Amino acid sequence: MAAPPLRILQLTDLHLPARAGGRVWGRDVERNLDLALAAATACEPFHRLVLSGDLANSGASAAYERLARRLAPFGDRVRLLPGNHDRRERLRAAFPRHWPGADTWLSFTDELPGLTLVGLDSTVPRRTRGELGAPQLHWLRERLAAMVGRWLLFLHHPPVRVGTWWLDKDLVRDRAQLGEVLAAKPPLAIVTGHVHQEFVGALAGTPVWTTPAVAYQYAPRSWLPLPRARVPALRMLDVVGDVVHTRIVRP
Ligand SMILES: [Fe+2]
Ligand SMILES: [Fe+2]
Repeated sequence: MAAPPLRILQLTDLHLPARAGGRVWGRDVERNLDLALAAATACEPFHRLVLSGDLANSGASAAYERLARRLAPFGDRVRLLPGNHDRRERLRAAFPRHWPGADTWLSFTDELPGLTLVGLDSTVPRRTRGELGAPQLHWLRERLAAMVGRWLLFLHHPPVRVGTWWLDKDLVRDRAQLGEVLAAKPPLAIVTGHVHQEFVGALAGTPVWTTPAVAYQYAPRSWLPLPRARVPALRMLDVVGDVVHTRIVRP
């Protein structure tokens, strides 16, 4: 019998400030989070809400604590990854049930009926660039050897260039090694954040989709990191069999 359709929502790059109501690039990004969560609620019923990093703008504990309160209504359907703006230890402290172990990387695997979600921590402390590291790639290789059925991969940093020079210098450094690991069992898609814009690419034949931010957007192929649009967005992924129907949702 065919597996039931599954709906996954992705929010990324919230950039919450330390102080409630504080502005980032002139925008009340907490208001943007409220709008994005309302848009997520309008997409019910969904199975998972994945937040793919840059949750806080400067890694402040107060920002994570406010985020935890805002996400509480979604219960155990929430999955989190850190981004380069986050601080692992503070994020873990605000969401202790998400990472009960003492692992260095804040990654996750999540078994849904007929679909596995994997989130890999692509951050390097105090660096902007993305990198997975040999231990994490080894962990992924072992997980894939034991995995049955379809899966989706979430990262903060994209493993492909998006055509913007100041973003492309920080994409996942060990993307070639990631491509080799994925060759054994390719995911349906790789879904990322970090670039604050929508982009479609491919790594080793697997689709790569980047998603606009909740906080603010960068224009494609921009020369400087100056935000343009400040309207939040999220990504909807409907998995039906081996096909993923996806689109960007704006409030
Ligand atoms: Fe970001
Ligand atoms: Fe980022």
